[in-house]
Amino acid sequence: MISSSWIPPQIRSCGGMFVLISHIIGVIVGHVHDITGRIGPHDVGLMDDLDYFHRMNAAARQTPPIITCKTIYSCSNFTIAVFFLPQRAVMPLHDHPGMTVFSKVLIGSTHVEAYDWLRPRVSGQGSPAAMLAEKVLDHNVTAASDAWVLFPDTGGNMHRFVVDGHCAFLDVLTPPYAPAEQRSCTYYEDLPYDELDPCAVSSGLTEAQRRRQLAWLREVPQPKDLRIANLPYQGPKIF
Ligand SMILES: [Fe+2]
Repeated sequence: MISSSWIPPQIRSCGGMFVLISHIIGVIVGHVHDITGRIGPHDVGLMDDLDYFHRMNAAARQTPPIITCKTIYSCSNFTIAVFFLPQRAVMPLHDHPGMTVFSKVLIGSTHVEAYDWLRPRVSGQGSPAAMLAEKVLDHNVTAASDAWVLFPDTGGNMHRFVVDGHCAFLDVLTPPYAPAEQRSCTYYEDLPYDELDPCAVSSGLTEAQRRRQLAWLREVPQPKDLRIANLPYQGPKIF
């Protein structure tokens, strides 16, 4: 067994603090994940919105779908919001910089694709330069599925929702978006990764990294056809 007696006491106590802090964070994340997973559509008044959702679904057949966002609660530490995506809506590939996000589908289903940056970062060509990312989620999520969580660097911080039927989901974002604190939403396009691409050849990827599902992500302006309507939340008061 390796002894830690050679480590100065101050560093040992710092190390102990980090272990304690990461343990506490792990407990909190587990607790919020558990609570989020038990939230249903009734808890946030979604069943009262069914008529509205039917109208939005009908409208989506003629015009670009309008995504609805209702912020349930927001403070400097976190935001809780419900999003409704009508038929054929797409929440384009976007990120949550420096944020932890808990999500739970409450009604319907959606297909989730999510990426994390490859580490160390690998830049490609173009302006802005694309960067290599690994696809970490590519599956359908339904109201029967558990909540899921993404972190600043893992779990699929850059993600896209594609809806065939319709979907309402809950997001708990902590900390919330705050442009003044460098937490703005950025949109991306994902481009196929070709290992014969000169950037890929010179990137020094390991064999294990090459076997992953990779893509180049490049920043793009907010898609012109993305329409998000913010409506007041009128469901049960939670705070
Ligand atoms: Fe998101």
